[in-house]
Amino acid sequence: MSSTKYSLECRSCNHNIGDMGAWFESNQQCPECGNKWVDVNYTADMAGVKKLIEIKDHEAKSVFNYFDFLPIDSKENIVTNGEGVIPVERWSFLEDFAKKYYNLDLKVNVYRNDLNPGTGTFKDVAASVAASGLKEHGIKQYCVASTGNIASAFSHYLAEAGINLAVFVPENALKANVAEVSAHGQKIFRVKGDYAMAKKVAAEYAAKNGILMSGGNTDPLRVEAKKTMVFEWLRQCGELPNVYIQALSGGTGPIAIDKAVRDLEGIYNLKNPRYIMVQPSGCDPMTQGWEKSKANGFPEGWLQDYPILENPVTEVPTLATGNPATYPIIAKIVKDSDGDIITFDEAKVKDISRIVAFEKGSKIGPASSTALGGFFESLKNNILRDGESVLINIGEGMNRAPELVEQMIYTSQLVSSVEECEVPNREDYREVVWDKIVSEVTVNA
Ligand SMILES: Cc1ncc(COP(=O)(O)O)c(C=O)c1O
Ligand SMILES: [Zn+2]
Repeated sequence: MSSTKYSLECRSCNHNIGDMGAWFESNQQCPECGNKWVDVNYTADMAGVKKLIEIKDHEAKSVFNYFDFLPIDSKENIVTNGEGVIPVERWSFLEDFAKKYYNLDLKVNVYRNDLNPGTGTFKDVAASVAASGLKEHGIKQYCVASTGNIASAFSHYLAEAGINLAVFVPENALKANVAEVSAHGQKIFRVKGDYAMAKKVAAEYAAKNGILMSGGNTDPLRVEAKKTMVFEWLRQCGELPNVYIQALSGGTGPIAIDKAVRDLEGIYNLKNPRYIMVQPSGCDPMTQGWEKSKANGFPEGWLQDYPILENPVTEVPTLATGNPATYPIIAKIVKDSDGDIITFDEAKVKDISRIVAFEKGSKIGPASSTALGGFFESLKNNILRDGESVLINIGEGMNRAPELVEQMIYTSQLVSSVEECEVPNREDYREVVWDKIVSEVTVNA
């Protein structure tokens, strides 16, 4: 029996595809035109979301607070660890920095996805909703290609749902991701080559074995899950930020936020935040495409003009999408929002992580440092405007990269007697941890 709760509509030809079951049957593409990007529409009045957004903190238990607007029919199929209800936190030290060095009055919040209880990344909501949707349709075998964090999150939640998973990652994926998949008893194939190669082998594996493969950045289960970020910001803050900063790989984040803003049209008076998307210097094809088109005044056909980087070498493997097939979607959303796509010099990942650990005690991972690095980069390049409220997506914690944990060591001293042990003053280290970022201000301001 098909769902009476929701249906999928093709974004290209508007064909009504039916529910997730019909979607899986048509090989996750529009049966009319073959397009893989759909919108999920709900039969319930979207205005009902208001009641859910007004719920108190102690009543909001997980992303399934928004069950009425997720493509799952029965609550019995929910697979959750309480993900998605994570704090929006004001980080005033970033506001102080913007004021002191750039004379800008900004409001700066961060979205603490590192506190998600599943795997501590912003992939947990996507994986919990996906696991629930797959369970609902009786799927027992699934596969996914990933740069790392989707691999971890899907392994975790699908194991909980009793679903077998085959994960395909590029050979240089972070060891912590490989370990996490393995720990759940899910199969991990490390594919010789880059993420594009891992995707290719995964697609062939899916076809060969008749196994369903995760639909990537436009997968409706992932997009619908992540759209709840917007509901949460409204619930916690009562408004949307003017600027949204996120590390960019394939871009599920902006696709999902844009969907939520469209869903809430006429219910709330909202507009898309200005998207500032940040790529690491070792893998920044979207920035390269964007910069070129920007310099040429966004000429006809610009959305199709982007480079493909083969075997990108980056310190942030999580963001290593060298062939950014979603560029036409992402770049349009960014352009329409008056935003930007920028690059962060990944050699400074450790500097950013040290600053945050020093100022806030929070230990953030490489992809999070890339996003936050984008904030400093935006200040340097006059991208942020006086009075704006900025939200930075902290997408993962430092447990993601034990290599980065080791780089937090700067106060350690080997001694052989007490004579060598001076009484410390923690304040002395502030200048040390900020040195790199502050030195760039004086050079560029
Ligand atoms: C921590 C973190 N930040 C950012 C991203 C980029 O996500 P997307 O570009 O799909 O929105 C990822 C995805 O791999 C991630 O794990
Ligand atoms: Zn279609």
